[in-house]
Order: sequence, then structure tokens, then C-alpha cells
Amino acid sequence: MSQPAKKNSIFVPPNLSIGMDQLQLKQSVYESISQKIYQMAGLYLPYNEKNVALMGNRLARLMRDHGVKSYDELNEALRIPSEKLKKDFISAMTTNKTDFFREEAHFHFLKAQLPEKLKAQSEVRIWSSACSTGAEAYTCAILAAENFSPAERQKIKILATDIDHDILGKAVKAQYSSLEMEGLQPHLRNKYFKPIAKQLFELSPELSKSVHFSEFNLMNFQHRFQKKFDFIFCRNVLIYFDKTTTENVLDMLVANLEVKGYLIIGHSESGVIRHPCLKSLGNAIFQKVRN
Ligand SMILES: C[S@@+](CC[C@H](N)C(=O)[O-])C[C@H]1O[C@@H](n2cnc3c(N)ncnc32)[C@H](O)[C@@H]1O
Repeated sequence: MSQPAKKNSIFVPPNLSIGMDQLQLKQSVYESISQKIYQMAGLYLPYNEKNVALMGNRLARLMRDHGVKSYDELNEALRIPSEKLKKDFISAMTTNKTDFFREEAHFHFLKAQLPEKLKAQSEVRIWSSACSTGAEAYTCAILAAENFSPAERQKIKILATDIDHDILGKAVKAQYSSLEMEGLQPHLRNKYFKPIAKQLFELSPELSKSVHFSEFNLMNFQHRFQKKFDFIFCRNVLIYFDKTTTENVLDMLVANLEVKGYLIIGHSESGVIRHPCLKSLGNAIFQKVRN
């Protein structure tokens, strides 16, 4: 747990060639900016030294790109932001860390459950609801390609969404550095990716086209998709929300999940899940047991 920042402490971001006196992140301005990201994306960043430093680092590039010269000016601009500033602000404040086959037990589970669903249903729907670079959704596509027939794979529909428009652009491109592909076994990397530049690989179009990407904010609590999902991945994002937001997001996810469908969250997040329609199966996996 980081200590609360001293009342008058300031953050001065690195590498900005503008007057330091203009770049003090005062507590009042910090709180106003953090309130805005809370309202827009649900990200809860209480005032403490760690979060002040995090926000300062995250906003440095945004301010440079938008020609904003102080936190006060940024705070003012965010009162009624342009669509571009809003998207860039959200993009700057989100954490996109992800990996292929991250928390691998979840994909063993998916592989084990798919045959029964494929047998019983004309379509099996998977939603990667905070998909970041697409690694999670493409892991599902690779798993399907490795384990199921073309006819079965046709029945598997994968939707991947995120609030961050920049990261979605990257996800659609499906190009990854060797570092970003560390979670992938070499034989899978060789089979499904082709090198396109030094240390850069691209997923085969057959697989990248099998995932549909779209922008979606989990704060859209009332949203109901036309068809419900059989598997919802909502991993490593609930940790950024407070209790109220988590409960509202959970209600929305459960409403969009089929009965007997599965909600899969991050291992570090399973403690926060309590829902009358969900039964815990362990390993941060929950099954919807009733409407
Ligand atoms: C740490 S990544 C997790 C990626 C992936 N689920 C995984 O576990 O590897 C968190 C993602 O959540 C997204 N995110 C944050 N707030 C969101 C919101 N309100 N709605 C949708 N996505 C959000 C971020 O943009 C980021 O890409």
C-alpha cells in the first residue's frame, strides 16, 4: 500500500521543455482530473503519491501532443473536451498490459468446455470485454484453430472490445513484437505468425479476421447485446474500479451472459466477485446458474 502524498507535494513530469512552475500537479487539480477519468472510464485513482506520479507520467505525452502547457489548462480543457481529447485522455490513463495465454488455466478451461457447447448449439459466443492489444481474443482464436475442425470453428464467434481506441487500432492490425509474444509457445508463433520486420510478427489473416473488434465502455451498464455470450472474459480490469463500479459492471456482464455460460476474471480479482446468479468454479471462473 503506498502512503498518502504529502498535502502540498507536487509532481514534475520528465522530459517536458516547458517551465516547471507551470507543471505542478496540485492536489486540487489532481482530484479534478482523477474525477474525470472516474466518470468517463470508471478508473478509480485516489490521491496518493503513487497515483500522482502515475498520472503525471501518463499525462506528459498527452499534454505535449495537444499543446497543453499546464495541468490547470488540461483540467480546464477536459471540462468540455473535444472527442479527440477525450479519447486520447482515456487512452493515456488506461493500463494495457496483456499477454497471449495469460493465466493459461483459463484457456485449458475454455478448451475443455467448448466441445459440449459446440455440440449443443449452432453458435458459441465469446466476448473479450477489456481486450487491450487483442492477445486474449487471439489466444481464443489460436486455441480454436489448434483444437477444432473448420466446421466447428465457423460456429465460434469472438467479439473483442475495449474503451481505448488506440489499443483497438493495434489489436486490429494484429502485429506484435517478440517481447509481446513471449507467452506464446514457439511452435504456435511459427505456425500462425509471419515475420514482417525485425522483431515484428503478424498474425495470419485467417485468424485475425475471425475476431471482431469494437469500442465499448464497461461503464455502459444498461447495454444489452442482441445475443448473449457463452464465455465472457473480463480479466485484469476490475482491479481499476471501485466497489460500486465493479458491482454495476458485474450486473451488466451477467445480464449479457447465457445461463450455464461462464464469466472469467483475473486471478487477482476473484475476491471482489459476489453475485446471486454466479457460482464460483474456482480459478477465477464463475458459471451463471440462473437469470
Ligand atoms: C490490463 S488490460 C487487460 C487486458 C486483458 N483482459 C488481459 O487480462 O490480459 C486492461 C484493459 O482494460 C481496458 N479498460 C479500462 N477501463 C475500461 C472500461 N471502462 N471499459 C472497457 N475497457 C476498459 C484498458 O483500456 C485495457 O486495455
